[in-house]
Amino acid sequence: MCGIVAYIGHRQAHEIIIKGLKRLEYRGYDSAGIALLNGSLSVYKKKGKVSDLEKFLQDKPLNSNIGMGHTRWATHGEPNDRNAHPHYSASGKLAIIHNGIIENYGALKQDLINKGHTFLSDTDTEVLIHFIEDIQEHNNVALEEAVRLALTKVVGAYAIVVMSLEDPSLLIAARKGSPLVLGIGKDEFFMASDATPIIEYTNEVVYLNDQEIAVIKNGELSVKNTANLPLTPYIQTIDLELEAIEKGGFEHFMLKEIFEQPRSIRDCMRGRLDSTQGRLVLGGLSEYITKLVNAERILIVACGTSWHAGLVAEYFFEEFCRIPVEVEYASEFRYRNPVIREGDVVIAISQSGETADTLAAIELAKSKGAIIFGVCNVVGSSIARATHAGAYTHAGPEIGVASTKAFTAQLTVLSMIALSVAQRKGTITEQKLHELLVEMETIPAKVEKALLLNDEIKKISALFKDSRNFIYLGRGYNFPVALEGALKLKEISYIHAEGYPAAEMKHGPIALIDEEMPVVFIATRDSSYEKVVSNIQEVKARKGRVISVVTEGDKLIPAMSEFVVEVPAVHDALMPLVSVIPLQLLSYHIAVMRGCNVDQPRNLAKSVTVE
Ligand code: F6R
Repeated sequence: MCGIVAYIGHRQAHEIIIKGLKRLEYRGYDSAGIALLNGSLSVYKKKGKVSDLEKFLQDKPLNSNIGMGHTRWATHGEPNDRNAHPHYSASGKLAIIHNGIIENYGALKQDLINKGHTFLSDTDTEVLIHFIEDIQEHNNVALEEAVRLALTKVVGAYAIVVMSLEDPSLLIAARKGSPLVLGIGKDEFFMASDATPIIEYTNEVVYLNDQEIAVIKNGELSVKNTANLPLTPYIQTIDLELEAIEKGGFEHFMLKEIFEQPRSIRDCMRGRLDSTQGRLVLGGLSEYITKLVNAERILIVACGTSWHAGLVAEYFFEEFCRIPVEVEYASEFRYRNPVIREGDVVIAISQSGETADTLAAIELAKSKGAIIFGVCNVVGSSIARATHAGAYTHAGPEIGVASTKAFTAQLTVLSMIALSVAQRKGTITEQKLHELLVEMETIPAKVEKALLLNDEIKKISALFKDSRNFIYLGRGYNFPVALEGALKLKEISYIHAEGYPAAEMKHGPIALIDEEMPVVFIATRDSSYEKVVSNIQEVKARKGRVISVVTEGDKLIPAMSEFVVEVPAVHDALMPLVSVIPLQLLSYHIAVMRGCNVDQPRNLAKSVTVE
């Protein structure tokens, strides 16, 4: 949901900003812009990708050591040059970039219009910079104070950076609800929505907290909160390699991330799981794990792919821990006045750790006294910080908008949490636990084997790339995988796809089946195998085109299917980690063959920081 970068120091600001915007483009990519200070305050912006902005800048004077840039995912106002950021204040002396949404912008705008302001865009952001300047002029205060006063009146979410023609030594940043990281180099400072634009230059960072304002003035950083209390910034050293955010020879980030899964799953388990000792250590949970062990009920809140991981976890917790689980869309949960009783525990799952709905669901649950566990990928993210305890997925940066390696890492962490709880609760025998831990250690190798299906899946993709619809069916642990397969396909190839529990098909979706309908069955050998066989027959009887994901060595389902891919045998509960791989590859190849932008699908953004 919009990416922001800013720089002040001794380098050419535009070089750092453009490179940074490209790294943040996963956050939004409908328009981009840059502001630079060199005697005048110049703003250049363009509808389209950062590469379009780059072309537009070719003949512009760019020499400047201070600047800021923005890549946009539109909330207010259609994506066009006018609505792209940065935006100017009324005098043209201030500029702003903003990630988030100012909810009371309508009322603020009307007040400003009454005072004679005119606006060049339809955005909430332009209103904010006019408002800041208006406060500055009427109160005759320094810009940093005007920003602070304005933010006390603003309702909504923001990460902003403001710069002023009148002070080329000054950058002001603030956040509430949208992420903002400051990078501290030698005589230079960086600001960005995440650390990826920064790590090439410094690994010393400060994650700004909600309601905090950072001011860089004359080479000095100071931080205060919106209540005007000075704060000591907490400088952290981050451990992120540049190669982790580059494509490494793959055509797309999504493909790279699909192929990274053996490693990301291994990284996720490293130091936490040891089958020889029957040991599961999740450091981030230790203080609170008894809350989970004694939980009367677990509520899982998440969105999208993370919600699918939550559905798999539901089966897992219920089977092994005998704790009832409810999996909720965070966006529904937050507005439903949900019943949270003593003894309930909430688990929030989020790759980005910034999803606005999930964050709001956490705050609501917290306000009702719940203990919250987080399963996040991005270290230091808002959700990771808002939860009482949690476990990181350690999948590394996921840049492709469609989530792949984060999903399997979420499943890995959630399985480890559930087994750890089951062990403490005594709801699993030592032998069963040992079996499952041994099996988990084999998963990276099995995923590697499933990835060998790539060429085969590419051939199948070529045959189905022009289909208008797809159905994905599975049962038990493979039901959420069916949902995930359908989501992957629709979000990157724009083919309509439905995921269903296979048995539910006869209650409606079966009407869709004809000789043109591809139906993907996730039909590995598990306790519902025989039932899935019947479901396949039901589809075949209506001439549907059956593509099956089966367990290696299966003879029955291949004989009934038009196309088959075989994945290695795994315990039912861990099968989603493997059975999802061919579905990720299928969606990837179909999208590439349809000429879609796989890493940056239309209308989407990687972290959804607006509701
Ligand atoms: C799908 C996808 C989205 C996210 C969802 C939640 O591929 O990426 O559905 O899963 O927006 O995002 P996080 O996990 O960052 O909270």
